[in-house]
Amino acid sequence: MNLLKVISRRFETALTALGVDPSPYLDMIRPSQDPKFGDYQANFAMPLGKKLGKNPREVAAEALTHFQFDDLLEPPEIAGPGFINLKVKESALAELVQKEAGDERLGIEPTDVRKKYVLDYSAPNVAKPLHVGHIRSTMIGNSLSRILRFLGHDVVSDNHLGDWGTQFGMIIYGYRNFLDAAAYEKEPVAELARLYRLTRQLVDYYKAKEEVGSLLQARDAAQLALDAQKSKCAALKQQDEADKTKESKEALKKANKERERLSKELSSAQERYDSVQKKIAEVEQNEDVLKLAQGRETIGVDVLAETSKLHHGDEANLALWRQFIPQCMTEVDKIYNDLNVHFDLTLGESFYNDKLGPLVERLKNAGIARETEGAVGIFLDGHDAPMLIQKSDGAYLYATTDLATLEYRRDAFKPDAILYVVDFRQSLHFEQLFEAAKYLGMGDVQLVHVKFGTVLGEDGKPFKTRAGKSVGLRSLLDEACSRAYEVVKNNDMNRAAEDRFSEEEMRETSKRVGIGALVYADLSQNRESDYVFSYDKMLAMNGNTATYMQYAYARVRSIFTKGGVDVDDLRRSFADGRNKLTFTKPEERALAFELLQFHAALANVERDFRPNFLTAYLYELANKYSAFFEKCSVLKAEDEKTKASRLLLCDLTARTIEKGLDLLGIQTVERM
Ligand code: ARG
Repeated sequence: MNLLKVISRRFETALTALGVDPSPYLDMIRPSQDPKFGDYQANFAMPLGKKLGKNPREVAAEALTHFQFDDLLEPPEIAGPGFINLKVKESALAELVQKEAGDERLGIEPTDVRKKYVLDYSAPNVAKPLHVGHIRSTMIGNSLSRILRFLGHDVVSDNHLGDWGTQFGMIIYGYRNFLDAAAYEKEPVAELARLYRLTRQLVDYYKAKEEVGSLLQARDAAQLALDAQKSKCAALKQQDEADKTKESKEALKKANKERERLSKELSSAQERYDSVQKKIAEVEQNEDVLKLAQGRETIGVDVLAETSKLHHGDEANLALWRQFIPQCMTEVDKIYNDLNVHFDLTLGESFYNDKLGPLVERLKNAGIARETEGAVGIFLDGHDAPMLIQKSDGAYLYATTDLATLEYRRDAFKPDAILYVVDFRQSLHFEQLFEAAKYLGMGDVQLVHVKFGTVLGEDGKPFKTRAGKSVGLRSLLDEACSRAYEVVKNNDMNRAAEDRFSEEEMRETSKRVGIGALVYADLSQNRESDYVFSYDKMLAMNGNTATYMQYAYARVRSIFTKGGVDVDDLRRSFADGRNKLTFTKPEERALAFELLQFHAALANVERDFRPNFLTAYLYELANKYSAFFEKCSVLKAEDEKTKASRLLLCDLTARTIEKGLDLLGIQTVERM
């Protein structure tokens, strides 16, 4: 049960009875920051008093006359200027927790406002290997999908694969020009990845050669401008030292500011120049690559031509595409398998190919899209540039496919909401898409860009390999598992020889621990911030990590094994009244209260589509459990009744952690 929601609803009734519109005030009922003030605090009396021109303490007292509390709460207290402090009755707390323990869903009733959600996440471009950023979209999306389903919503998860873009032109070109047939025979996936990288490198090389001259000019111009400004500043400084007037100071200040701006401009011009220089050097310093580059000046256009042929139904290119797709997918699917991620549907970009032409025609005929400089675009309110849906050479764009996808989803699923779990750098694209959706008659569908930030290395810059390449997700998963293996092995060494893991158990456990650590580290961040990646931190046995949570879970399980407890009978004994929860120490009550907050934590995840509300909750719960475990003996409790009561708290903690991790897409281990 979501206790906070129950209390809010009761205040809603009370405020309505006072003749007040309750809606602005219900958010002001929150869990207390300090147990001194009870479990919950309602702070609406101050703003409401102001509005009604009454003393807030009186307003609080009046509201309380209409507030039903006695089945759940101790008599509310009015404190200070008008805070209402609420404390849950021990008898009610015990009853609610017992009810939770007797329920498979841990007392969480499915929502009564059931919505249809379409979730768009993961969606990698499959022609190239997945990289570190893909764990974000995949796991944030996966956890939202699990949580929304658990809360009782209808969810359709759809993996909008990038299986149709320019990257396929790259592979097709690479296959036709650079194929190592023996390598392809042996390891097709690796060979396709090599072909992609090589072709891409050569395309970038010629583009860099084209740009390098003007970038050098731009850098020199920026240098000149800065030098001139520096002299100007020096002159103005002298002037000011002589005059010391308000005007001379102002002029100097303005000039200095301009100097700073020009200096920044110079650094970015320098960076752009360096980056193309690097691309050129990488090719020219490698004899083999340079040989391949020779005579391929038109590679950029040639790659686009291969893509265009594919899109226009060229049989040979389509045949290659059909051959490549399953090979690309083996690697991707293996990763999904390791991450335990599944989709209801996988409708990639290719699925929409034949819908793009008719869509553009329809939008043109309806006057929604029109020609602009040879291309076709939709002009949107609040945006200077139009959203292009067809280029002047006839090719369709990312936005065109996304519009077709929107229409398809609207018709196929009639969703209430569509969530796009995609990198924040695509914000502009989604702002335009959502604006355009209004023209498709989708004004009342909730469209949300669930955006996320960048994974950084320890140096605070985007996480790259030492060679400056993006970090492959495969190597990340493998490394996490092998580091987890060390952690698990270390723990195992402390056990008696006969209790140790077999090699197979050790591998399975370290896989769960390693991947769990990686996933949790990602989900425990506020998704919109960047975060620094660290294996050591994510695998720490203490702190807000999956390892800590899995360890807490395994510890509870070991109590049950050690005590030879029959869990099913324990649970039954509370349902049939043989046992009752009792709170003899404050840590027991605090743990019981925390257990009741699970539903509210999930509701918070849904409100903002932020899984870190759940990780924060699990961390708090594990901490309350530690405090409880330190102060309260369980197997050696004073008497059998107390022992049973404490065992039930242990059992429910383990089940809540297990369920919470499961909703994040993380598995538990029985021992570690
Ligand atoms: N394939 C895209 C990329 O890698 C992400 C697609 C996200 N979903 C969407 N409907 N646009 O950038």
